[in-house]
Amino acid sequence: MIIKNLFPEIDLIMNEELRNKVTQALEKAINLGGWDEKDLHSIPFTLLIPELIEENLTPKISIIDHIRAVTQMCIATYEKYEKLGLGDNLNKDELVAGGLLHDVGKFVEYERDANSRIIQNAAGKILRHPAQGLELVYEFDLPLAVKQAIIFHSKEGDKINRLPEVEIIHRCDFLCFEPIKKIYEHKKTERV
Ligand SMILES: [Fe+2]
Repeated sequence: MIIKNLFPEIDLIMNEELRNKVTQALEKAINLGGWDEKDLHSIPFTLLIPELIEENLTPKISIIDHIRAVTQMCIATYEKYEKLGLGDNLNKDELVAGGLLHDVGKFVEYERDANSRIIQNAAGKILRHPAQGLELVYEFDLPLAVKQAIIFHSKEGDKINRLPEVEIIHRCDFLCFEPIKKIYEHKKTERV
């Protein structure tokens, strides 16, 4: 499995050491989760929108689609900040790395049940992917902003003073969740 083919945005990280660490962390998570390449596209990005999952159990938006979309939204935001003269205030490499790794813990938070459905596993229910993700990357000595993106991108970070890069990742992550949830809720009420 070639991680860079799954996540081409990795190549936008200019620092070679960070680029390699991000690649290795994603590879470790996917291997620990026991997923093969075909499986990856069958993992939904969330279990909170049941309508996302087709009858044949394929998700309309996979975890891979989500991670890439959030990272691309982060890059688009960075480009707007650059136009506002604020680009120098953000670490673009760490923003891209944080976008790519924010949900790294989901590869170990989820598992497939006996009916082939993707579910949250026992550890996932107790720890959730932010904590599982941080535990998983300990050996890579990632920059603090990337570690903060992993552990505090979601509701766990609501009382935390997020770094600017992590604030962008958090908001792009929710942009790639809340409106999607509303789209499917709306579709459901239309049907009733
Ligand atoms: Fe996410």
